[in-house]
Amino acid sequence: MNDLRHLLALARPWRLRMALGIALSVVVILSNVTLLALSGWFIASMALAGVGALTLEFFTPAAAIRGLAVLRTFARYLERLVTHDATLRLLSVLRVWFYQRLEPLAPARLQGFRDGDVLARLRTDIDSLDNFYLRILAPAIAGMISSIAILCVLFWFSPGVAVIDGVMLLLAGVIVPLVVASRTRASGHAVTGLRASIQAASTDLIRGLGELQVAGAVARQSRHLSLLSQKLIAAQRQQAWIGASGSALSALAGQLGMFCAFILLVSAGHAGAIAGNDIVMLLFAVLASTEAVAALPTAFAALGVTREAARRIFSMAELTPAVVLPSRSATPASFDLTFAAVTMRYAPEQPVVLDSLSFRVAQGQCLALLGPSGAGKTTILNLIQGFWDCDQGDVLIGDTPVRALSDEVLRQSISVVGQKTYLFNASIRDNLRLVAPDADDGTLWQALSQAALAEEVRAFPQGLDTLVGELGARLSGGQARRISIARAFLSHAPIVLLDEPTEGLDAANTEMVLKALKELVKGKTTLLVTHQIQPLILADSRLVLEG
Ligand SMILES: Nc1ncnc2c1ncn2[C@@H]1O[C@H](COP(=O)(O)OP(=O)(O)O)[C@@H](O)[C@H]1O
Ligand SMILES: [Mg+2]
Repeated sequence: MNDLRHLLALARPWRLRMALGIALSVVVILSNVTLLALSGWFIASMALAGVGALTLEFFTPAAAIRGLAVLRTFARYLERLVTHDATLRLLSVLRVWFYQRLEPLAPARLQGFRDGDVLARLRTDIDSLDNFYLRILAPAIAGMISSIAILCVLFWFSPGVAVIDGVMLLLAGVIVPLVVASRTRASGHAVTGLRASIQAASTDLIRGLGELQVAGAVARQSRHLSLLSQKLIAAQRQQAWIGASGSALSALAGQLGMFCAFILLVSAGHAGAIAGNDIVMLLFAVLASTEAVAALPTAFAALGVTREAARRIFSMAELTPAVVLPSRSATPASFDLTFAAVTMRYAPEQPVVLDSLSFRVAQGQCLALLGPSGAGKTTILNLIQGFWDCDQGDVLIGDTPVRALSDEVLRQSISVVGQKTYLFNASIRDNLRLVAPDADDGTLWQALSQAALAEEVRAFPQGLDTLVGELGARLSGGQARRISIARAFLSHAPIVLLDEPTEGLDAANTEMVLKALKELVKGKTTLLVTHQIQPLILADSRLVLEG
């Protein structure tokens, strides 16, 4: 329940709207019950008046019936408007709130999660939370308030009927929904988990389709996916079954209540303790009062899903980032890079990756980092970018430790050209503007020509408007690498990190990339990680790490 309380705390800004929604629901339920009861009374009275057993002033009740019908419709409309508005507002803010919590977790804390799973939390799980206020909380509270009001009025007319109705409402509105909630807890848990697994497996299937095809494993992966779907369907079917059975039981309780009230009222009528038209009125009131709780059994069948979705969202949002950077900081006065006795391990139980490492790269110089795979070269680049923090020692830009720089200053100070360049499925122009949103085409062309890519882009029929495809599928590896170099030119960051910049490129591309990099690193503080010999022409000095 803690997670749901957490959700309510986030919803605080809309508590007035939410309360108004509940108040309107109460108006709807009460006007409906009154309408039905009054109509019953009115028809019975008219019949009695017709046989001369009663004189009736019928203008007032007829007007009241009309008024109640209008009130009910109007209140229902407003109630839908207000409750949906509050829910949608909450969901939109929740998504942004969650995204803002996720951002500082990347990349260090998110590496243990599958992409599809993160996506499922951001989309499906947050969507599931709409159930909470709209279908669970608001109807439960409105049902409770209305039930109490109905019982008070019934008690005034007939304590016996009030007791019968009270037992019925307790059964249909409290006991059955609670049983439904407890019986659907496990399947609700499963539904949420399976949805995330399906999303993760589909993401894998689509991303890795090429590899799966080559390995002849598409059918196996599809089978896996269809197995997950079948499990999901089974869990959802179970939920639907339990929810529907709960509804049926509630309805049955309502009918039984009606039946008992009928017997009681008829015997009271025989004894002359109550008039015929009042009997009809009370019976209709009992019948209508089931509406106050009718939706609860199926709503509570969704409680498990909602609760598990909330748990998944809050458990991720509560992770602490690997590094908490200040929100503001001054730009460092200079841009040399210093590692001062840096010791680092990724987790307390893992081995030391860097052991009291010290080195310095003067501003404008290029240091090549060499060493076997696993020696910690990428780790060094991660530390400089503020993705992780070291256990001992300091990583300094100028005189400032990286952990004292704001995210904004860090991103402006550093550009990275790595083995993998993430390209968005957008135009070349948009992919470049990522680092310089205001750059005009002239500036973009200049960066492309510095990155030795201008000629090729000019040869594309659509030039800068060429779409690069999903993950840059329509560009060669060398072209993608040069896009990231063009980005580095556009960003003007004084520190450049090169992580295997020519890895996987053919001779012609390697040559073009190196030519561009030579221009790029001029006057910039550069760290170059490489296994290859050719990039070493960029370096002023070398540091060999031991494995
Ligand atoms: N994100 C990570 N979480 C846990 N361990 C990691 C992580 N990244 C790297 N390591 C470990 O740290 C060591 C150094 O890795 P890395 O810096 O990538 O080496 P290099 O780039 O020199 O090949 C390796 O033993 C690797 O398994
Ligand atoms: Mg590496």
